[in-house]
Amino acid sequence: MHRFGDRRPKAFVKTYGCQQNVSDGEKLKGLFVQMGFELCDQKQDADVILFNTCAVRENAEVRVFGNIGQLKALKEKKPALLIVLCGCMTQQEHIVDKVYKSYPYVGLVFGTSRMKQFPELLYRALSGRKRLIDTDKPGDDVQEDIPIQRDGEIKAWLPIMYGCDNFCSYCVVPYVRGRERSRAFDDVMKEASEIVRAGYQEMMLLGQNVNSYGKTLPGGSTFAQLLRSINDLEGDFRIRFMTSHPKDATKELIDAIAACEKVCNHIHLPVQSGSNRILKQMNRGYTREDYLELVAYAKQTIPNLSLTSDIIVGFPGETETDFLDTLDLIKQIEYTSLYTFLYSPRKGTPAEKMDDPVPAEEKSRRFQQMLKVQEEIAAKRTAQMVGQTYRVLVEEEQNGVLSGRTEGNVIITFKGSTELIGTFTQIEAVSATNWMLKGKIINGTH
Ligand code: 5AD
Ligand code: SF4
Repeated sequence: MHRFGDRRPKAFVKTYGCQQNVSDGEKLKGLFVQMGFELCDQKQDADVILFNTCAVRENAEVRVFGNIGQLKALKEKKPALLIVLCGCMTQQEHIVDKVYKSYPYVGLVFGTSRMKQFPELLYRALSGRKRLIDTDKPGDDVQEDIPIQRDGEIKAWLPIMYGCDNFCSYCVVPYVRGRERSRAFDDVMKEASEIVRAGYQEMMLLGQNVNSYGKTLPGGSTFAQLLRSINDLEGDFRIRFMTSHPKDATKELIDAIAACEKVCNHIHLPVQSGSNRILKQMNRGYTREDYLELVAYAKQTIPNLSLTSDIIVGFPGETETDFLDTLDLIKQIEYTSLYTFLYSPRKGTPAEKMDDPVPAEEKSRRFQQMLKVQEEIAAKRTAQMVGQTYRVLVEEEQNGVLSGRTEGNVIITFKGSTELIGTFTQIEAVSATNWMLKGKIINGTH
């Protein structure tokens, strides 16, 4: 790439959105490094700027467009700069049109299943003069052997499947990420072993719906089998996973979580709504009763189970009664924490065409009310944790205070030596705020 002369070119990579995308971002960085780039964390220093985008809600897209807009001045000052867009947004026609028409200084756009072709696309974009747009429909293949430049040294992402076949009526993911496909069992096990060997203390198994892992594989492995096999790897590490779709969470899976000592006692089990009417319109494939039954089994099987969830407020036509059903379910389950979203219409999804008479102010009132309810639940939970001792994975230090997470994914802060970062340490919770705990080290125990 003569365009950079003799020096090593620099790449700036920014990822938006979910963990799957963050994991893709680590591969894009791996490919940059393999191609001889140096990674940098200031846009101004970069020869190539890549935005790995997210399309799940409108505000993610607005942010990306805002950030691309800001690059105009930089590109004018530095004409050799190549601006690249990839990820979920680029898999939507109307977005690609908008980029093409309104952002002429974006030089390369490619889709979610073009990762392996990225080096070639980049080379072509850097050596040619034309803008390059390569966003065919997402493919059905699983791309292995892409180098990874992992962001952290304590926690590693491990994708086990890609795409989604569920077509929840509000969600754009099945359209932009393509059909559900699992990585081969042996490939996942190989990467899991490498993660353990590299000294990571935690791995997060990733997929839009990890519970249907294996359905597309010959021989039909299950997610429960995969958990048990990873659990059998030697070493002191934790296993987490996300996301679990309630309709595919089996008793076999719950039993496996309970039986595997390395699998955390935490399940992220998005319910989205507590109203059967809305669940049906969302095409979620379970009822409120199914969900409660599953949770009851999980709570009785997994000691000290911590549950978290995603909730969408203001789905088209959501009535006050529907909303109160959701609040009621949240109170019954007492989630450790919630990821709450205001419904955002997505082009091409069935929900986008549904009537939505509820005014925006009413939706945001419900949203605030829900946050308040969850805040009280979380405060009660953390208060109950005070006085107990937890095995904490120490993750970082900020302003002289260390912090880490319990197995149930609650953050706990405490004073101690930075040498503890990356270790499992016994911490007694001494006081609680709404979401977090303050604790102290129990001496001599690790
Ligand atoms: N509007 C609001 N939230 C959404 N999610 C997915 N699509 C939308 C949408 N159109 C939320 C769901 C999902 C999480 C990752 O994002 O709660 O579980
Ligand atoms: Fe979207 Fe539903 Fe698939 Fe999750 S399970 S990615 S919400 S379609």
